[in-house]
Amino acid sequence: MRLTAALSILPELYCAIQVALFPTFRDVWLNPILIFDVFRVFMTHVWVKFADPTNEGGRVVKEGLITPHATGIVLDLGAGHGHTVDFLDRQQVTTYIALEPNGDMHTLLRQRAAAAGYLESDGSLIVLSCSAENIQMILERIGRGTHPVDTIVSVLTMCTIPSPQRTMRRLVRDVLKSGGEFLYYEHVLSPRSDVAWWQKFWAPLWSLFFDGCRMDRPSHLLVEEMRDIDIDGKETSMWREGRSWGKLGESEENLWWHQAGRFVKR
Ligand SMILES: C[S@@+](CC[C@H](N)C(=O)[O-])C[C@H]1O[C@@H](n2cnc3c(N)ncnc32)[C@H](O)[C@@H]1O
Repeated sequence: MRLTAALSILPELYCAIQVALFPTFRDVWLNPILIFDVFRVFMTHVWVKFADPTNEGGRVVKEGLITPHATGIVLDLGAGHGHTVDFLDRQQVTTYIALEPNGDMHTLLRQRAAAAGYLESDGSLIVLSCSAENIQMILERIGRGTHPVDTIVSVLTMCTIPSPQRTMRRLVRDVLKSGGEFLYYEHVLSPRSDVAWWQKFWAPLWSLFFDGCRMDRPSHLLVEEMRDIDIDGKETSMWREGRSWGKLGESEENLWWHQAGRFVKR
């Protein structure tokens, strides 16, 4: 891997620190209890600057992935400022459930959802403040029995979820309908050993500044390999069909190497 590509994390970190350090100090100064959640506060400020350009960078992939395939009740994991809502077809998606544990992002999230025609007042928008791991609370808050969701979307979130294998498997098993779709767009561990080496090298530092985001997580493989026990007691794939693909034109020498995928539950 070229050194310039391997070190491309440094300008990103510099930009994040420049944007978020002072506002984070200010927030903690005004409300000292935030010291216990200081990395999340930092991420809140980082995301104000990074969310729009990151969204633009994934626009073409998301238009092909989310717009034609998200239907019915959609659960958006780690919704952030709600950028996924811009890609939903209002005629196809009746309810947008935005799961976002960082409450400081909810104002922008609600604004973006309202602009796309999703409102809490008529039940077409549900904002969940819990984490993706909290399956019981997700089911209780949606309140429509078992397997209530037609589509689960994960955009740049699986990298941050703790115990992703267990959490994603339980979400698909308990929350997604049979025949429902799981749509993801994530940066993942590179198949190139030299790129993967640098991803593993930088991962601890990056995760410190980006709210636990792991740049060395093989999220695409976790999805592809998701299995469950069928009624005969045999272990079998959770998917009826599915495939992953890369981002057109993206260099292999990329610390944030992306994959997108569409998987249909059995
Ligand atoms: C990189 S941002 C992506 C936001 C949004 N999906 C987008 O594409 O703009 C990752 C998001 O995941 C959220 N997050 C962090 N830990 C989470 C968890 N355990 N469960 C669900 N979401 C989480 C963060 O608060 C953050 O908003």
